[in-house]
This record gives sequence, structure tokens and C-alpha cells, in this order.
Amino acid sequence: MHYVKRKGWEIPEREATPEAIFLNRRALLGAGAGLGAGAILSGLPAQAQSAQDPSAGLYPARRNETYKLDRDLTPEKVNSEYNNFYEFGGHKRIFTAVDTLKTRPWTIKIDGLVEQPRDIGIDDLLKQVQLEERLYRLRCVEAWSMTIPWTGFPLKALVDLARPLSSAKYIRFETFLDPKMGPAQKQSWYPWPYVEGLSMAEAANDLSFMVTGAYGKPLAKQFGAPIRLHVPWKYGFKSVKSITRISFVEAQPKNFWQSLQSAEYGFWANVNPDVAHPRWSQATEEVLGTGNRVPTLLYNGYGDYVADIYKDMQGQKIFF
Ligand code: MTE
Repeated sequence: MHYVKRKGWEIPEREATPEAIFLNRRALLGAGAGLGAGAILSGLPAQAQSAQDPSAGLYPARRNETYKLDRDLTPEKVNSEYNNFYEFGGHKRIFTAVDTLKTRPWTIKIDGLVEQPRDIGIDDLLKQVQLEERLYRLRCVEAWSMTIPWTGFPLKALVDLARPLSSAKYIRFETFLDPKMGPAQKQSWYPWPYVEGLSMAEAANDLSFMVTGAYGKPLAKQFGAPIRLHVPWKYGFKSVKSITRISFVEAQPKNFWQSLQSAEYGFWANVNPDVAHPRWSQATEEVLGTGNRVPTLLYNGYGDYVADIYKDMQGQKIFF
């Protein structure tokens, strides 16, 4: 079995919330199962929390221990008050601006090269998958990183539900397009809606994760509620938020940042400390909440799981 070994540059325990504290919170949650996990974690009354999100009872989910972390979890407050979500503005304090995002009803269109195109509501989808918690790292192309307890299900489970045709080579993900929900979508210089893509081989990798919760409860809006992607070996911009459409396609999709600035952003965007962004180095990253900079790792430390996907792609821009 693969696991990520603890590295010499690991941040000291005192500089972030130790995982043990998180685990204790989970033990507490287990003890108070009937109360609703999110309610205890967020400090909201249980009823208020479940009134907000009909899936609250599904959290916290059992942790999948396959993916070990080599650093401490980012405290929830740090993570939820520093986000990128351009539909709500080009700043980091998205949590102050995200109220207009309405996450129910929420329908995801599955179309393109599939046996049967369909629309599926988020709560129906949640009934058809097994939720689990995974501790993952996120490395933003802006050279900062976080460590998050995501809850969700493997993307490959969704691919199985969608039943793509063999002609499908890529998956294209699309975020909502509605300036009433995401007011910055009135800014016409951006190529809305936000689009991202993965190859079918990347989607089949067990690391590719559809995220519906974080910190033991349904996703907070600024994280991309009610459903987003997380592909931890790639720069964070690949992890598209608030998904409303998943299309199976033959041609490589052009993503949001490529459409905006193709000289700076490509399709593959795998993390590599030795391949600089045209305007800054990718050699190190600031671990948010700690004040520390640490060396960035090839494939963000997940090379054992994913390097094989790219073994026949020498000469292609897989780190850009
Ligand atoms: N998805 C959408 N729809 N809109 C965005 O602006 N930003 C991306 C990605 N997904 C973004 C998005 C970027 S640049 C990053 S680094 C991550 O979301 C940030 O995720 P986080 O806010 O949960 O840390």
C-alpha cells in the first residue's frame, strides 16, 4: 500500500490545529450522533443547520485512512476565510460575499458522450454514492497551500453512474452561470462560466474526489457548495466549484484560466516546483495559518499515485 512518508520539512505541531484535536471533535460528534455533526462543529443550533442543508445528517462520514498527511490540518477558520471563488469577486474574503449562492434545489446535468444524458438533483446523487472523509492537501498556483478534511466520493463512482461511451476522452465540468447568484459574473471580461476538465485516465484515478463536505459537515458556500472537485496533485484552479454540468467529450476542454490567459495557464497543470509560473517561482509555498514557507513537492507529494498517468506524455506541457 502507498503512503506519503512524513517529511523533514513538516511544520511543527504547535503551528496548526493538531489532527488529534480534530479527531477528538469527531469522537464527540460520534457520541452526540443524534444532534447533527455540523451543528456541533459550527456552533449553530442543530435545527438551524439541518434546515439550511438537507444533507446535514450524512456528516461526518467515515474516514478513509488510505491517504496520510505529512502536515497538520489547516484550522477551519483559516481555510474558510481565505478562498478563491471569482464568481463572488477577485478577493479572498469570499465568505463575506457568498450569501447569494443558493444551493437547493441544485441540479447537475450529465451529458455528452454517455449512454443516456440525465439531470440529477444533488440529494438524489448523494443517495447513490458512499460518502467518506479524506485528508488532502491543496496547492494553489499562487504558491500557498492548505490541508483539508474533505468529505465526498471518488469521481470514478460518478463516472460509473454516468455510463460514458468509449469515445469519451475527457470530462468537462462547468460551474453555474447566474449573475444573481454570482454577482461577479456581470464582469464581462471573464470567460464565464468557470470550466475545468480532466482526462478519463485522471478521472479514473482514485485520488480524484467529488467533494460535498468539509470539516465534518456539508460544504460551506465559499468552498463551492454543494459539490466541487478536488484533484490534489494539480494546482487548485483545476478543482472547480459549485458544479452544475458534467459533460463527457472527445476534445480536450479549454478551461477558464486558459481561456483568459493561455500564455500562463494550461490544461494539465500538475504541480511541479521546477516549472515556474511565467511571473513567479513555484519552488516553495506558504502553508496558510502557519507563516511558514516549505518546499513544494512534485505532483504535490502524490507522485506515487499519479505519475504513471503521464509516463507516455514526454514533451507535452503537463506541468503548465
Ligand atoms: N471554481 C470556481 N467555480 N471559481 C473559482 O474562482 N477558483 C479555483 C478553484 N475552483 C475557483 C474554482 C482556485 S484558483 C482555487 S486555488 C481553488 O478553487 C480554491 O479552493 P478553496 O477556496 O476551497 O481553497
